[in-house]
Amino acid sequence: MYQCAVVLAAGEGKRMKSELPKVLHKVCGKEMVNHVIDCMRASGLEDVNVIVGRGAEKVKQGTSLKGVTYSLQDKQLGTGHAVICASEFLKGKKGLVAIFTGDAPLIRKETVKGLVDYYEKGKYSAVILTSILDNPQGYGRIIRGGQGVERIVEHKDCSPEELLVKEINAGMYIFDIESLLSCLGKLSNNNAQGEYYLTDVIGILKAEGKAVGALAVNFEETLGVNSRVELADAEKIMRERINKKNMENGVTLIDPSSTYIDSEVEIEQDTVIYPGNVLQGRTFIGRGCVLYPNSRIENSKIGDSVTIQSSVILDSSIGEGTTVGPFAYVRPGSDIGKHVRVGDFVEIKKSKIGDNTKVSHLTYIGDAQVGSDCNFGCGTVVVNYDGRKKHVTKIGNNAFIGCNTNLVSPVEVKDNAYIAAGSTITKEVPEGSLAIARAKQVNIEGWVNRRNSNK
Ligand code: UD1
Ligand code: CA
Repeated sequence: MYQCAVVLAAGEGKRMKSELPKVLHKVCGKEMVNHVIDCMRASGLEDVNVIVGRGAEKVKQGTSLKGVTYSLQDKQLGTGHAVICASEFLKGKKGLVAIFTGDAPLIRKETVKGLVDYYEKGKYSAVILTSILDNPQGYGRIIRGGQGVERIVEHKDCSPEELLVKEINAGMYIFDIESLLSCLGKLSNNNAQGEYYLTDVIGILKAEGKAVGALAVNFEETLGVNSRVELADAEKIMRERINKKNMENGVTLIDPSSTYIDSEVEIEQDTVIYPGNVLQGRTFIGRGCVLYPNSRIENSKIGDSVTIQSSVILDSSIGEGTTVGPFAYVRPGSDIGKHVRVGDFVEIKKSKIGDNTKVSHLTYIGDAQVGSDCNFGCGTVVVNYDGRKKHVTKIGNNAFIGCNTNLVSPVEVKDNAYIAAGSTITKEVPEGSLAIARAKQVNIEGWVNRRNSNK
């Protein structure tokens, strides 16, 4: 049977108090609406239409990699009106449409598939996902009668008895497309909020004698985010899920409650992660790594058996067996080889560092290509910026850079070269030679005694 999905993402999100459209707020590093779109796709619903309105351009941009289509809801006249705006998308289609809200990111594919299954087996015209809440404040209530679900009443329209109902509408539905389209024209905005409610479709279908079902699931999956407090609630639940999945995959988390792993991060088995690590974006961490406390790693690829302590690594790759930190800063575009040592207070920017090279302490390397088996003494600075432009430094294999060297770029240090400590290198250092570029030492004998006797 034909299946498609509509994601509601046109609402204003007033309660977020934000410049950013609500559905673009992130949960574990991914925009809420993208969590929902990805979940639809993972559930087998390929054809996804997103309804945009408030901040439409931003929402389109924020979902641009997802290959979805859009419907525009110019004015936000309610969830029913939003679906009316998707009529063009739905028209002429025979089958089912899953309608999900873009502000409920915790929904899982297993649940969506279960709902589709329930819809198909029960030969329903519509099914809704519900859950039972101790505090149903704010949600639409499921009103059941002798023959199952009768209708949904919004919180603000509830009678005192209806307010006591604890079964709530999650805002997630499956409809038979033709039945849905035939009801949309019958919606009115005669209610407490003056809005066209999608939820009224349920009562209309029921009145027409059509079968409507409701499937109750765990509240966690249905949590709708309307405020920053709920955003943090969703983040916590998703974080726990991600951490559990990683532990099940063979990753040790010393303290899951203080480990922050984004939803797209991949980690291989036997890696150990200490508290305070923040792993973001599209980061991949290999096998058998140890991440000691307090690092942030974003969009980076970390090879097997890497050790990292209290460092920041952005948009870079780190080879197998390398150690980083404590207190290193690896900036975007860096490609660090295998068995490299990047020690304390080392900053590396947009540079390639070859295998087995050691940059042990207090060093800046920017816009450089460094070969393998080199050693950087403490306090080396690659002087890559002349105040106007950035320049490139090239260092061959097996070079020894003495402590406190300046390498004024553009400059090249060839294979097997040595640089004496304290040198400021402005010219090429030929292969196998020693460069000394500093003032010669002068000793003035008896100087201290003479100065003291002058007092
Ligand atoms: C809605 C449901 C309520 C349910 C709750 C679950 C209705 C009338 N009510 O209420 O029964 O318990 O979700 O979270 O549907 N949106 C648009 N266009 C609009 C209005 C909203 O696209 O004109 C989108 C929003 O961006 C959001 C979703 O629809 O993603 C839900 O809107 P929201 O205003 O949060 O509805 P609730 O009041 O939470
Ligand atoms: Ca909501």
